[in-house]
Parts: sequence; C-alpha cells; structure tokens
Amino acid sequence: MSARVLDGQALARAMQEEIRDEVAAFTAQHGRPPGLGIVLVGDNPASEIYVRNKLKTGGEIGFRADLERLPASATLADTLALVERLNRSDAHDGILVQSPLPKAMGADAEQRVFDSIAPEKDVDGLTPVNVGLLVQKRAALVSCTPSGIIELLDRERIQIAGRHAVVIGRSDIVGKPMAILLLHRDATVTVCHSRTPNLADVCRGADVLVAAVGRPGLVTKEFVKPGAAVVDVGMNKVTDAKVAESLFTDGHPRLALFRSKGSVLVGDVHPEVADVAGALTPVPGGVGPLTITMLMRNTLRAARARAGQTVS
Ligand code: GUN
Repeated sequence: MSARVLDGQALARAMQEEIRDEVAAFTAQHGRPPGLGIVLVGDNPASEIYVRNKLKTGGEIGFRADLERLPASATLADTLALVERLNRSDAHDGILVQSPLPKAMGADAEQRVFDSIAPEKDVDGLTPVNVGLLVQKRAALVSCTPSGIIELLDRERIQIAGRHAVVIGRSDIVGKPMAILLLHRDATVTVCHSRTPNLADVCRGADVLVAAVGRPGLVTKEFVKPGAAVVDVGMNKVTDAKVAESLFTDGHPRLALFRSKGSVLVGDVHPEVADVAGALTPVPGGVGPLTITMLMRNTLRAARARAGQTVS
C-alpha cells in the first residue's frame, strides 16, 4: 500500500488566492494594506530562510511585510523596544518575532519578548492571553502550524472526532496547541515526548499521528497503525551521509539530491511509513506552506479586528 499524499502546497495555494482577494478588499476599504512586522535578531541560517519565505509570500499576496532586523549583539532591551515600536505602529497589524533568539540574550529572553507583543497583534498565537483564549476555545489568533494542520485534515476529509490522535512533541508553538485543537475537535488526544516509555506502541494506537519533534526519520513503520493519517511537521536538514542513507534506498531521487548538494531536507517521519499509512504529508510541500498561509490569515484577521470589522 502507498499512502495518499496530503498536498499542503496545493491547499496553501488555493487559500492564498482567497486571502489575496480579501487583502485587496481590505486595502481598498482602508486605504492601506494589512501590515506584518517580522522581527529577526541575529543571523541563524534556518531563520533567514523561514523569514525570507514569509516576507515573499506576504508581499506576493498584497500585504505590507516589513523585516525588522537587529544584529546578534542586540540586547533584550533593544528587542523589547523594537516590539514596543511595532505595538504602537498603526501600519502594523501583526507582529512575529522569529524564534530562536540568540542564546546570548538569556534563557528567558524569548518568553519575555513574546509576552511583550500586544495580544491583538500576536499572529503567532504565543502570548499568554492568546494561549488562554485557545484553551477556552475562543481564540481569534491561533498558532499557525497547528491551525494549518486542522485545515488540511478537514480539506482531505480525514475524520478527527471520536478518533485517537497522538501528538509527538510538546512545544508551545506546535505540540501543545495541536493537542488542544484536536481535543476541541473531539479527538481523544495523547501527547508524547522524549520521556514517554514505549513510544512506538503508544503511536501505533493513533488514527491521526502528528510528529513534531525535530528528529529525522524518528517515526518508522513500527509507530504506525495501518491506514492511519500521519502528519509530519519536521523540517530537518540532514548533512550526514549515514543518516541520509538510513532514510532513502539507493536510487531514490532524494538520496541523489543529497549526494549532489551535500544536504537534504527531511521530516520526522521515515519515508518507509508511506507503505503503512493511509495518508501522509510530504516534506517538503506538506505542512510548511500551510504555516505561512495561516500567518497571512492571522494577519488579515488582526487587521480586520483592529479596523473594527467582525472577524470570521
Ligand atoms: N521559528 C520556527 N518556526 C517559527 C514560527 O512559526 N514562529 C516563530 N515566531 N518562530 C519560529
């Protein structure tokens, strides 16, 4: 059996077309586009790519999308001052502070910076106010990757209610909000993490399995109930030939890519899972494009709410 591919790229494109029209209508009505300010501190190479993609997509569909950069030497106070400027800016409806912040800024810097974002502009859904509203099932701005995954499961008619969903990973940005959204859709939810005993056995009970741990190929066939829907949130750059060879058989085009480029992007789900799962998101082209699309949807929602429009 080969799993049905859950094409996040196609869904992202379709949703972006709808958002583009709504952005044009907002711009015509208010005389300005909805605005997103992205704060990037330092020069983490992965963050550079993520931020570039967010700015590009935002610009293409009609948003004002500004990069607000600080050097790696910036202090916590510098970063808080920048967020405060964006909080007060009339042109910016959404603020995203790209994670991770430089380690030198201190262990609690990230939490303090996220806490300082005005909740009505918190398009990542990471402030305590928005997390609380999410838990109470009344959030307007929800973390982008989990909400994109729910959109994809719905669009692909994968049943959630009454089924057993297992989430591997307990991060604030993916694992926890994912578990809550699945719970709100009446799944029975188990959250697994690095201290979970018998991880494969627990995962094999899942009808819907979401992997968000950042470990290339962790989820092998043994983790998957035949026919389950498997969502791969992992985005891991593999540079070790042994790891690449453990994931792809000789002759696989992705292994050829690795050999020509010296690296390959892989998820948390081993490619062999396609033989067991009923449906599977690819990496790349699965969850990633939806995360950016949900960021755009959140920015439009924030803009409408700030303009006093009712938000759907
Ligand atoms: N770093 C990696 N993914 C994300 C994300 O979705 N939001 C933020 N703020 N930082 C990230």
